[in-house]
Amino acid sequence: MATFGRARELFSDFRVEQSDPDRFYGAMAADSVRQMSCLMDLENAHVLDVGGGPGYWADAFARAGARYTPLDADAGELALHGRVPLPGTVIGDGQHLPFRDGAFDLVYSSNVAEHVPDPWAMGDEMVRVARPGAVIFYSYTLWYGPWGGHETAPWHFVSGDYAARRYERSHGKPPKNQYGTSLFPVTMRQGIRWARAQPDAEVIDIIPRYLPSSIFWLRAVPVVRELVTWNVALILRKR
Ligand SMILES: C[S@@+](CC[C@H](N)C(=O)[O-])C[C@H]1O[C@@H](n2cnc3c(N)ncnc32)[C@H](O)[C@@H]1O
Repeated sequence: MATFGRARELFSDFRVEQSDPDRFYGAMAADSVRQMSCLMDLENAHVLDVGGGPGYWADAFARAGARYTPLDADAGELALHGRVPLPGTVIGDGQHLPFRDGAFDLVYSSNVAEHVPDPWAMGDEMVRVARPGAVIFYSYTLWYGPWGGHETAPWHFVSGDYAARRYERSHGKPPKNQYGTSLFPVTMRQGIRWARAQPDAEVIDIIPRYLPSSIFWLRAVPVVRELVTWNVALILRKR
């Protein structure tokens, strides 16, 4: 599944994120749903997508037969790229999920942790709303990776503040992802610590999300893993 060909395709789609968002996000969503279907049966599963954004994942999860509930903090994000927000979308904060304990079969979040001030409170909330046996998939962009600074990369390697100032100088406007407000430095090390310390969930796997499985061993190499793996997926199962 995590083959070299898949990684090459994902990175080639990444190049058209701005020019052809339907292709990029559609491919990402389809890839994610394939990945989830290797972990669990999605037919009739109730999926919570924390920070779902403009709804591409809804189509992909619906095709797999899942019931999909998106939650996002920002109504504007839901309508990006001309998308129409789904009925049933919940506006809320992933750090304080407005759902009862044990409500979902899959609690999913892709590329959101780096945008919240307390990603580990959000992770705890994701575990809380998962039912016993449910899968929690928590994936985010690593700060020390090539895309850590998002549109301000690669200058985030100097510092987040410097990268933001530099972006504003050269574009005449601040970056959409504001360091310290809507973009925060998260690392794989922090995520592994958080996952292993969960009292109510066991770790199924911790994988560099976009890379081929032949180089998953990189996840065990401190420092290097932060620089080269781009994104980590923490995969847990609720006890
Ligand atoms: C980069 S987008 C990711 C969208 C989609 N999950 C993906 O993988 O493409 C980040 C999303 O997180 C949302 N977000 C930011 N802070 C949030 C919070 N505290 N709670 C829930 N969603 C949040 C943003 O509004 C945005 O839609």
